[in-house]
Amino acid sequence: MSLKNEIIKSYKQKAKEIKKHNKHYFIDDHPKITDAKFDELKKEFLKLESEHGFLKELNLSKNLVGFSPTNKFKKIKHIKPMLSLANAFNSEDMKSFIKKINNYLNINNSNLDLFAEPKIDGISATLIYEDGILTRGLSRGDGLVGEDILENLKTINSIPKNIQKKTPPKLLEIRCEIFIGKKDFLKLKDKFANPRNAAGGSLRQKNPLETSKIPLKYFAYGFGAVEPMIFKTQADFLNKISKWKFNINPLSKIIRNLKEVEIEHNKINQIRSSLDYDIDGIVYKVNDLNLQKRLGNTSNSPRWAIAYKFSAEKASTRIKDIVIQVGRTGAITPVAKVEPVTVGGVVVSNATLHNEDEIKRKDIRVGDSIIIQRAGDVIPQVVSVDKSKRNENSKKYIFPKKCLCGAETKKELSKTTNKLDAVRRCIKGYDCKFIAKEKLKHIVSKEAFNIDGLGKKVIEQFWHLNFIKKPSDIFNLNYDKIKKLEGWGDLSINNLKKAIEKSKVISLDRFIFSIGIRHIGQENAKILADFFNSIEEFKKLFDSKIKKKILYNLVDLDGIGETQIQSIDNFFSNATNVNIIKDLINKLNIKNYIIKNNKGKFSNKKLMFTGGFKNISRSEAKAIAENNGGKVLGSISKKLDFLVVGESKPTKKKIEQAKQLNIRIILEKEWNEILNS
Ligand code: IVH
Repeated sequence: MSLKNEIIKSYKQKAKEIKKHNKHYFIDDHPKITDAKFDELKKEFLKLESEHGFLKELNLSKNLVGFSPTNKFKKIKHIKPMLSLANAFNSEDMKSFIKKINNYLNINNSNLDLFAEPKIDGISATLIYEDGILTRGLSRGDGLVGEDILENLKTINSIPKNIQKKTPPKLLEIRCEIFIGKKDFLKLKDKFANPRNAAGGSLRQKNPLETSKIPLKYFAYGFGAVEPMIFKTQADFLNKISKWKFNINPLSKIIRNLKEVEIEHNKINQIRSSLDYDIDGIVYKVNDLNLQKRLGNTSNSPRWAIAYKFSAEKASTRIKDIVIQVGRTGAITPVAKVEPVTVGGVVVSNATLHNEDEIKRKDIRVGDSIIIQRAGDVIPQVVSVDKSKRNENSKKYIFPKKCLCGAETKKELSKTTNKLDAVRRCIKGYDCKFIAKEKLKHIVSKEAFNIDGLGKKVIEQFWHLNFIKKPSDIFNLNYDKIKKLEGWGDLSINNLKKAIEKSKVISLDRFIFSIGIRHIGQENAKILADFFNSIEEFKKLFDSKIKKKILYNLVDLDGIGETQIQSIDNFFSNATNVNIIKDLINKLNIKNYIIKNNKGKFSNKKLMFTGGFKNISRSEAKAIAENNGGKVLGSISKKLDFLVVGESKPTKKKIEQAKQLNIRIILEKEWNEILNS
């Protein structure tokens, strides 16, 4: 063996040892050698690496040396969920954000105060102060349940341990982003892929002493629970907490309209590289906290905030091939296989071409030189083709008319626009094995069954090994077979078993969302769960005769339209779909849907709206009715208790029908009186 090979062998051996001891120490909580011995091993390993440049190429030291995060933290439920943000990528998206806010609040103000803050690319955490004392510190976790990382957060000197105020709020939850300065990261760059990883790894050390060695910083950007509420605006909140010694980003400011949004965006983008921390956009928040409260949240993100991302990084490359991919709803997406190229620090070898029309419009061909772009976590896209570099013999790309499963594909006619959809779809549902695989990935995802340890990659692997071909297989896994696979050990198998067992108990709304009916997202799944209430009722959809009746009744539901009903009908008309869902149900304990709030002024009452209101939008009126225990229906029927009539253009026919059915009619004025009483 050559000397070089011997060095490589010894280096790899040491890496393996370190990995093993990291596991004993951090994961099993059972160190097998002393700290001093471990440090020695690390030193030898790093010394070898620094003496022999070629070892660096093996890339073994990243995330290995002494900083492996543990999963030993206590899990704690957040007082209020830690949501994520919707994204905007251009001025049009921002325009639509401002318009949606205006619509929801039923106002016409294009100069609404927005508060702009750089979006730090770090790790979010929440700090809880009770009577002014820092008592809890949690990581974001899955947004609902975080991990207790208080001791590690306490090592960050600039985080106040007490609030410097005579009478602090009884309860104050500060949300912040933890990061490592770019300069400080340079010292750690051999051990982590990027500053964000380094901050995350460091925060999740088992031993706070390890965390304290790394210079972590933070900016506070928001609040969770606050009692009593003493803040009026986002600006007021940040101003007050900065007096209490919390760090806030000095680049934050009030912005008043779209023009100012663009100016701010360009300004911050220009100084971006000179900042000592990574930012990937600007967060715009409605400044007035009362308006924020009225706007509320959708399932995952607030309506009152958006992250306007900086423009995507671009790179040029060449298309080696064009292939198609099948999504979980059957959508056929063309994907360009490109010569690997680094864009924004990540090696890209695939880029989406969106759909058939897009390829036609841009006349994209195999062999073309192209520009691709990548923004945030979004799939890289093909932006343009350099036709001057095109080979004379290149041929137009002919879009396949068949799915990978061999079935014909279709373009649907949109009911709203009366135009053919740009996307081709395979309509075989679970009968198409490619769709089935994607549906499995959806089922295990965070918002659905949320099975830790069973991510997209594992599903892909288990699918190819025939371990999981349909959803019910998840609950029949042969763990002895998995154990034989590389990367699986007793601990990871036990964790997977536990996660799968836990996921068997699921609420009806999550279940409906999980099975992946097209057009039934999280919000619609809740509306349907509220309608069916139990899985027993939901199962009636399997019987084609009863199904028709049920679908007819769904018209009553506010939020469920013809498109959704058609899609539910299609889904349950497919025998394979029905059998697969039946098998799945047999493995589960599906809990009845419980409406969070059925107390209030409209407790257990069914309402319907007609006509526009003076001060609020229909969406807000609906949210108010629901927050007061009411249920909003979409059509007049005997079931209805109230028809609420707004002053602007109510439908006469609806009022007539309601009168005939003896339904109580509430005029806008009266509605306001009831709410204010
Ligand atoms: S506001 C309801 N402001 O971005 C969520 N978030 O994608 C409100 N982040 O989890 C978030 N800088 O970790 C907000 N100035 C800022 C932020 C910021 C970074 C992170 C945060 C959040 C994620 C949302």
